[in-house]
Amino acid sequence: MALDSVLYNEIIAAFTVDTEHLREAAANFRQDMRLGLAGSPDSSLRMLPSYLGLPTGEERGSYLALDFGGTNVRVLLYRLEGNGTYKMLSHVAKPLKVDGVYDFVGADATGEEMFDFLAGLVDEAVAGDHETPYLLGHTFSFPSRQTNINDARLIIWTKEFAARGVEGEVVNDLLRAALVRQGLSNVTPNSVINDTVAVLLSAAYINGDTKIGAIYATGHNTCYLEPHTGMAEPPMIINMESGGFQKISPNRFDVALDAASEKKGEQRLEKMVAGRYLGELFGLAMAELLGEKGHTYHFTSVDLSRMLADVGEDAQLAATIVEAVTGKILPVEDAVRIRELARAIVVRSIRLIAATFVGTLWQITGAGEICPQHIAVDGSVYEKMPLVQEEMRRAFSELLGEDAAKVDTMLACGGSGLGAAIAAAMTERG
Ligand code: GLC
Repeated sequence: MALDSVLYNEIIAAFTVDTEHLREAAANFRQDMRLGLAGSPDSSLRMLPSYLGLPTGEERGSYLALDFGGTNVRVLLYRLEGNGTYKMLSHVAKPLKVDGVYDFVGADATGEEMFDFLAGLVDEAVAGDHETPYLLGHTFSFPSRQTNINDARLIIWTKEFAARGVEGEVVNDLLRAALVRQGLSNVTPNSVINDTVAVLLSAAYINGDTKIGAIYATGHNTCYLEPHTGMAEPPMIINMESGGFQKISPNRFDVALDAASEKKGEQRLEKMVAGRYLGELFGLAMAELLGEKGHTYHFTSVDLSRMLADVGEDAQLAATIVEAVTGKILPVEDAVRIRELARAIVVRSIRLIAATFVGTLWQITGAGEICPQHIAVDGSVYEKMPLVQEEMRRAFSELLGEDAAKVDTMLACGGSGLGAAIAAAMTERG
């Protein structure tokens, strides 16, 4: 079998973002930030206030952190020691879904079951200690409307989560009730933050010079310290829910993926860039290339990552992975093209995210000059996907010219747990 060249070239073009479109995406993103801050319904960014500024680095004490929002739930006990230092005292983690055993992600689960599972993990992290008082910071990585640091109501599930009875609820009320059912009245949740906010807090605690935090993993989102206007007074971290950004042009695969998703019409950027979806886009395009339009194959972002890590001339790993998933044997020249398709999908993801970072930098900078700074990013795609560093840098250069040298992205590994402990400390201090 040989792939149709015309179709192949057209599909690659559909996943290509040239400099002009990149610039347009960055400008539209900044425009949506401003509209969102002003409360305009025309913004596709939710711009959710976090009720937190940046930490000083001098926060101290032991705090529990519950990190909930991806494939794994983690509960950690941290001791913050000030001066940007900390120790992790204990750590437990479990997947939210084990095929054939349990599933707290799908629509068959109830919120109560899900939060009981979380409370069980907290119990493990404190080794069954039902006496010692603990404050707990909760990283809850979904769009939530807050009225203060501890009161966060889930607006809508994202990332294909669907457990019943949680949307519209105050998440720490559900958590507190589950902790009580577990006999853990000694554990008091005192703060809820988004994972992007946690990443920014952890990076700022350790490094300074960081005003933007992002996740590039199962989902994608960015927050930043809004210095100027609107609801963010005094300067406050805003969770943009940038995965909801809409002012970009989807191609037919994006449209098909959205139509088959849990929340149609929502999270349009996220569905073009995040780890949960990259393999699915590849599967849709692959099916079309194999003459099976309308069908799909289930690839994962890890498959794409493995294909791209193999830089051999004959793209052997691409052929092996495609054969394992589709049963089709590709000749070498097609395996090379398929690896190119994976590359195009991944590079588009990196470039679109870079555009949103640049839009955010423009907003932070206002009329002034871009200050030297880091953008803190956590997440498996950022950490493990080939091409991320070089393509991010290339996109920054295209949009920022010489100023690109003032900005870099930096891995904030484990930031979503540490940030929750920092939030708990900042809240206690008031
Ligand atoms: C989704 C969530 C967002 C979270 C991101 C990364 O986009 O809506 O709140 O920050 O995933 O986990």
